[in-house]
Amino acid sequence: MRKPVVAGNWKMNSSKAAAEDLVKSACKNESIFEQVDVHFLPPFVYIPLVRELTSSLGCFVGAQNVSHETEGAFTGEVSAAMLLDCGCESVIVGHSERRALYGETDKVVAAKFKAAQAQGLTPILCLGETQKEREAGQTNDVVLRQLSTVISVVGVKAFAKALIAYEPVWAIGTGLTATPDQAQAVHALIRQYIDKQDADIGERIRILYGGSMKAGNARGLMSMPDIDGGLIGGASLSASDFVSIIEQAVG
Ligand code: PGA
Repeated sequence: MRKPVVAGNWKMNSSKAAAEDLVKSACKNESIFEQVDVHFLPPFVYIPLVRELTSSLGCFVGAQNVSHETEGAFTGEVSAAMLLDCGCESVIVGHSERRALYGETDKVVAAKFKAAQAQGLTPILCLGETQKEREAGQTNDVVLRQLSTVISVVGVKAFAKALIAYEPVWAIGTGLTATPDQAQAVHALIRQYIDKQDADIGERIRILYGGSMKAGNARGLMSMPDIDGGLIGGASLSASDFVSIIEQAVG
């Protein structure tokens, strides 16, 4: 049995006051954290605040991005060691917005994954195809290219301490959601690919779905055999929606 994971990617949203309200309301039932791993992924500047609010609770705090460099003259960048220093446990790498808007290549994503793990952070590796790629029948090739580049750099064993999120780009922030069957097919592909290289890790790796997951469609998606939770964008900014998704992850 894989413990479900629900991660809230706030993107470039919130404020100190809103973050405090959201985290306090979302953490009212702290006993649920025994049954589901919950990660809050606020913008960098709110990480210390969210860490402080959750310090005695069994949930996790992470970042949305990390530099692949360790330190030095890299204006505007934040290192994995700094994230650790501020109490982070996890970090998203390879989100499609980073790939599309900031030119992150598969190789850069692999380097970020490695840098995060070198500090003991859990990378949340995002994979996913665009609408055009899906229509061209390239979904499996794209997802496996993204995944295999990371495996070629860090090795499959590194996935013993990582999370994967399948996030079809056409479903992110669009209100379009992959159907449970569409998502399950790609999740199974990812798991089989890892399983062929290491059966134990293939069985244990938790693969989240992301892309307009909300209270109304979470159960259908998370009830699929290879979908172990969700990476939630928009719906993670509403405490009641986020809590509902967390509750549905428990079953
Ligand atoms: P969304 O975003 O839930 O708003 O579609 C998901 C994500 O980008 O992680």
